[in-house]
This record gives sequence, structure tokens and C-alpha cells, in this order.
Amino acid sequence: MNNGSVIAAGYSMADTVKQGAGLRNVVAGESSISSIDGERGILAYRGIDIHALAEQSSFEEVVFLLLRDTLPTRAQLAAFTQELVRERPVPAQTLSLLRLFPPSTHPMTSLRSAVSALGAFDPDASDDTPPANARKALRLTAQMATVVALVERVRKGQEPIPPDPSLSHAANFLYMLTGERPRPEAERAMDVALILHADHEFNASTFAARVAASTLADVHGAITAALATLKGPLHGGANEAVMKTLQEIGPPERAEGWVREALAAKKKIMGFGHAVYRTEDPRATHLRRMSRQLGEARGDRRWYELSERLETLVRAQKGLNANVDFYSASVYHSLGIPTDLFTPVFAVSRVAGWTAHVLEQLGNNRLIRPESEYTGPRDVAYVPMDQR
Ligand SMILES: CC(C)(COP(=O)(O)OP(=O)(O)OC[C@H]1O[C@@H](n2cnc3c(N)ncnc32)[C@H](O)[C@@H]1OP(=O)(O)O)[C@@H](O)C(=O)NCCC(=O)NCCS
Repeated sequence: MNNGSVIAAGYSMADTVKQGAGLRNVVAGESSISSIDGERGILAYRGIDIHALAEQSSFEEVVFLLLRDTLPTRAQLAAFTQELVRERPVPAQTLSLLRLFPPSTHPMTSLRSAVSALGAFDPDASDDTPPANARKALRLTAQMATVVALVERVRKGQEPIPPDPSLSHAANFLYMLTGERPRPEAERAMDVALILHADHEFNASTFAARVAASTLADVHGAITAALATLKGPLHGGANEAVMKTLQEIGPPERAEGWVREALAAKKKIMGFGHAVYRTEDPRATHLRRMSRQLGEARGDRRWYELSERLETLVRAQKGLNANVDFYSASVYHSLGIPTDLFTPVFAVSRVAGWTAHVLEQLGNNRLIRPESEYTGPRDVAYVPMDQR
């Protein structure tokens, strides 16, 4: 993105925006959290390549890296992990609130509402000092998994499962969701998925969080704005849409005709294309492998094979690469996660990046307030009501 225009503070942007709708190729601020090289397919958190993190790190360590700038020592990681464990429980009112929603409510709607409400019960609710905001960032990161699991249990009419302090963040999430402690390969797959989704520069939901934070709104408000933004199918909602696409296609031999028809009708095929990457999304590389491995472990390669077929066809017919959401769909499906919970699972991870960005924004804040290029009529006379 660095060859794009810079929106300097207070700079008139009409010409800049003309370069492309959607602020594409516009650098909208500075950040030292994550970087993307869209031409070379490189993603790094605090300068560390995503492949190294996916292969060697854990979600807890990545949260430390994002929130505290650097990799932890062994002792720091142990202490930080305990802090996350301590912050996992949510107030009892969260359960009461979730029980008010009809079972047909989309889980992202429930999650967004519950996270907004957490702001009212947070022990630091009335404190917006930097130390309090740092505590809220960590607490929300710990709590997001608990709330997502609660959303699922409540709508199914099941009793909530309290967090297990002996489990990692990834394993505990699956445990709170299903009541079963996951097998090591499922825990590792969940952990890697959380690592891969944790941050992605100025994506739409992160930018929404930063815009909210830049008004000096509270941390919970900024994360609520991010959740509202993540839900859309052009952003985080794509993983759910991918699974629905795979189910709609059915047998792999139907894929070719389906892709041809979709492209002829100028439909967007979910899980393909990216606003920044012009090559393979580096996160998709890991998710593709995980999709295959999890499918094989379950003795059901169907979703992986169909995904691979679709990927080949879309690349050949439209030149588009799979993005992070494409293979995460079959990965989450193999982990037994319900399809409409896929986007909330994205949030379980991305909250780490959102909160890191909110703290960064607040650390060097200026109200984010761009301009629009007015395209309506000018100098229009006001016509009194009885003359219209
Ligand atoms: C992510 C996305 C919004 C990026 O959009 P963008 O940078 O604005 O890209 P554009 O919409 O300008 O796409 C450029 C061209 O590719 C096409 N295109 C992009 N993504 C496409 C997709 N998933 N399926 C079909 N065509 C697609 C566009 O229609 C356009 O075609 P045209 O030049 O013939 O008009 C877009 O690729 C998309 O909608 N993907 C599907 C949703 C998704 O997976 N989102 C998750 C992103 S991680």
C-alpha cells in the first residue's frame, strides 16, 4: 500500500478519492502493528512473517505481540496467559441479555449487542485512562471467545460451559462451545486459525474501530463498531457465505457450470479476490493445508476437494485467488462449528488486532474525519411547503 497517496491530517482529499472508490490505495494513517505487501503476498505482525507465526507461535503469544509490541519471554508469556485466563469469565448479565434474543437472531447480531453491553459492566467502565484502556483491551480479547460460545449455547437452549483455566485459548473456546475437550490436532488447527486472523492492517472493521476510537469514544464502543463492520459478506461474513456456496454447489462435478454461470451473471464468488493482495493470500496457504488435513482426519475430504476444484476454476476463469475466508470455511466446518458461527469465530481472533489498533490510535490521536466530493446540485432555492 505504500505507493498510494497519503491522507495527511487536514488535507483536502477530493482528488485523492477520485483515484478509486473505497479508499483503495490510500494510506489512511500510520501503524506499527501489521504490514502487508500485496504484490508479494507478505503479511507480518510487528515485522514477524505470518508463516513463522503460523508454524511456531500460539494465539496467546500473538496477542502479547500485538498488544505489547514484542515477543514475550517464557516468564512473560506464562504471566500473560494467566491474565487472559483470569479475564475469560463474563458477567452473569451477558447470559440474561442473550436469552432475550429470538433463536433466529444471527450470532453476529447477538455478539455485537453482548459486547456493547459488556461496556456497561466492565470494572473499568468509567475509566478511560491509558492503563484502564489497556486492561479493557486484554479483557475483551479474553472474553470474546466466552461470549461467542455463550451465544451458541443459549440459542441452542443449552447450559453455558464455564471456561477451563487449564486449557489454551483455542482449546478452551472449542470446549466452551461443545462441552468436549478437543483432540490435539483440532486444538492446533483452531490455534493456527486464530493466529492467522488476528490482525490485517487497515481492513474495514479495524478502520471502523479506529474511526470510533478517534472520537474518544470508549473501547467497547470501538469494538462494537468493528463487529458491526465485520459482519458484512464483503468482509468477515465471507467465510459463512463460502460454506453456503459449497453446500449450494454440492458434488464437485457441478462446480464448473456453477462458476461459469456465477461469473456470467457478474456475481461475486465469496472467498475470492482481495482489496490488497494481488497474489496468494499468505493465510490461505495454511488454511488450505489445514482443510485437507482436518478432512483426512475425519475421513471426509469432500469439502476440501470441492474447495480445491472451485479454487482452480475461479483462478482459471477469472484470475482471482482464494482469500483467508475461502479455506477457513471448510476448516471451521471440519471442527464442527456451525456455519453461521464462522464470522463470530473470526472475531474471537481479530479482537486482538482491533484492540491493539484502538490503543495505538488513542496513543497518538487525531480525529479521523475525511472529506467527500460533493456530486449533488448547488444553489438550489428552498421551495416553501405549499408551493411544492
Ligand atoms: C474482497 C473484495 C471486496 C475486494 O474488492 P475490490 O478490491 O474492490 O475488487 P473489485 O471489486 O474492484 O474487483 C475487481 C474485479 O474483480 C471482480 N471480482 C473481485 N472479486 C470477485 C469475486 N469474489 N468474484 C467474482 N468477481 C470478483 C470484480 O467484479 C471486478 O471485475 P470487473 O473488473 O470485471 O468489474 C472482492 O474481491 C470481493 O467482493 N470478494 C468476495 C468477498 C470476500 O471474499 N471478501 C473477503 C475478503 S478477505
